[in-house]
Amino acid sequence: MTQKPSRVAHHREPERWGSKIGIILAVAGSAIGLGNFLRFPVQAAQNGGGAFMIPYFVALLLLGIPLALVEWTIGRFGGAHGHNTAAGAFGSMWRWRGAKYLGLLGVFGPWVIFLYYIYVESWTLAYGYFSITGLLNDAHDQAGLVAFLRSFQGLLPSGVFRDIGAAYFFFLVTFGVNLLVLAGGIRRGIELVSKIFLPLLFLFAVILVIRVFWLGAPHEMHPEWNVIEGLGYLWNPNFSVLGNSRVWLAAAGQILFTLSVGIGAIVTYASYLKRDEDVTLSSLTAVGMNEFAEVILGGCLIIPAAFAFFGPHQMTEIAKGGAFNLGFVTMPLVFGSLPLGNLFGCLWFLLLFLAGITSSISLAQPVIAFFQNVFGFKRNKAVGIFGILSFLLAQPAIWWLGYGVVDEMDFWAGTVCLVIFALLEVILFGWVFGMEHGWRQIHHAAQIKLHSVFKTVIRYVTPAYLLFVLGFWLYDNAKTTILMAGLDPANRPYVMGTRWMLIGLFLILALSMRWALKHRKPHEA
Ligand code: ALA
Repeated sequence: MTQKPSRVAHHREPERWGSKIGIILAVAGSAIGLGNFLRFPVQAAQNGGGAFMIPYFVALLLLGIPLALVEWTIGRFGGAHGHNTAAGAFGSMWRWRGAKYLGLLGVFGPWVIFLYYIYVESWTLAYGYFSITGLLNDAHDQAGLVAFLRSFQGLLPSGVFRDIGAAYFFFLVTFGVNLLVLAGGIRRGIELVSKIFLPLLFLFAVILVIRVFWLGAPHEMHPEWNVIEGLGYLWNPNFSVLGNSRVWLAAAGQILFTLSVGIGAIVTYASYLKRDEDVTLSSLTAVGMNEFAEVILGGCLIIPAAFAFFGPHQMTEIAKGGAFNLGFVTMPLVFGSLPLGNLFGCLWFLLLFLAGITSSISLAQPVIAFFQNVFGFKRNKAVGIFGILSFLLAQPAIWWLGYGVVDEMDFWAGTVCLVIFALLEVILFGWVFGMEHGWRQIHHAAQIKLHSVFKTVIRYVTPAYLLFVLGFWLYDNAKTTILMAGLDPANRPYVMGTRWMLIGLFLILALSMRWALKHRKPHEA
């Protein structure tokens, strides 16, 4: 006798990580990104060199590690209640209706960062191609490479590229690769890719560090321009900067950005853990991997290489130009002058691409999980809708790059939202959920026991630190950024347009949540 197919939808098995090393590599992959190799060295060099490491390690201990522990724990707790986003997790920790809406920041923030991060990621793929094919060799000096980059980005009316076509092509490829990985799911997409890409990334970074150390002193006329002095430039402490609060803020911002905490991505990743899987040792291992990639590998690449090639004076000027100048202008020049330079240049950009893609997929996953949780979509449908919407929303960053659109998105999502979300989650954890309860949750199935000082840190120190960071940032930026003071009048409509787009996006997410709360069972929304 054949059985009639059931009309009742079967409850789908929740997605899970396949192995402990899988989630550790995925979280480390989320953390290790463009921030490690481009942002960190420039921040360190601009903020007191070796002295920067004091506020940096203080922020790691008082912000980074506590927030990583909290996010892993919140994520696993939410996952055990069937929620894969910060919105759902917040709702399961706090019965107040508004909690889910606060948690939406952990979906909105990573989505907005994804919209511009992916474009920058696509430049690394393009430059990998330009390096290996020798196209970059046509530009012989700083000015030539700056012009090349601007022309590629569509910011120069004439130049190597007639229009933005090449940049758009690489954007489409990068976007497609991200969607393919995401469509594979947690285990066969994100985990698989992290297991392959992270070891490769470390391998490429080590090869490049060895090559940079091999440079020695490349100019006979200037033996003092050498790699060791370059390391000194980065690490010699200038303790006088420690009295400057901006340096402390820069260090705090770098820790949040590089560890991917305060974004919502780790909450989502940890939600795919089983209820009885460790979060203490795993979270600390992922933090440790990120710090090795940042401080050891990231610190040994662009600054020492640029110093040895261009000397301290030009190096300072280049560092002032920011991370992109160093990454896309200086490094191709350095490698271009070496034997097998095209290969090393390509390796450098592939390293950035691998670092970028393992981060961008983690920025996308909270949004996909939101569509799955809130509308009950299957993964492919959720990825498809995410793809269409993100493709449309990413257009302003591509076409209006020159009008401050990316800076605006980065200010709200990559700076302000990050700190607000971190503050909300740590207060929720330490005060609403309750520190004793939270401490038990952290240690549930734990492989190591943490010192109880972390209890005090999570309850008092981390929120106070974040409040200080937020207060100072708002005070410092309120006039210039929020009121658009000093902004080129030509940029204003674009910046305003970006703000409306961000407000609209948040409202759409909130309305979707409201719809789900009304029409779906409470544990599903
Ligand atoms: N944590 C990621 C990075 O460093 C976002 O780029």
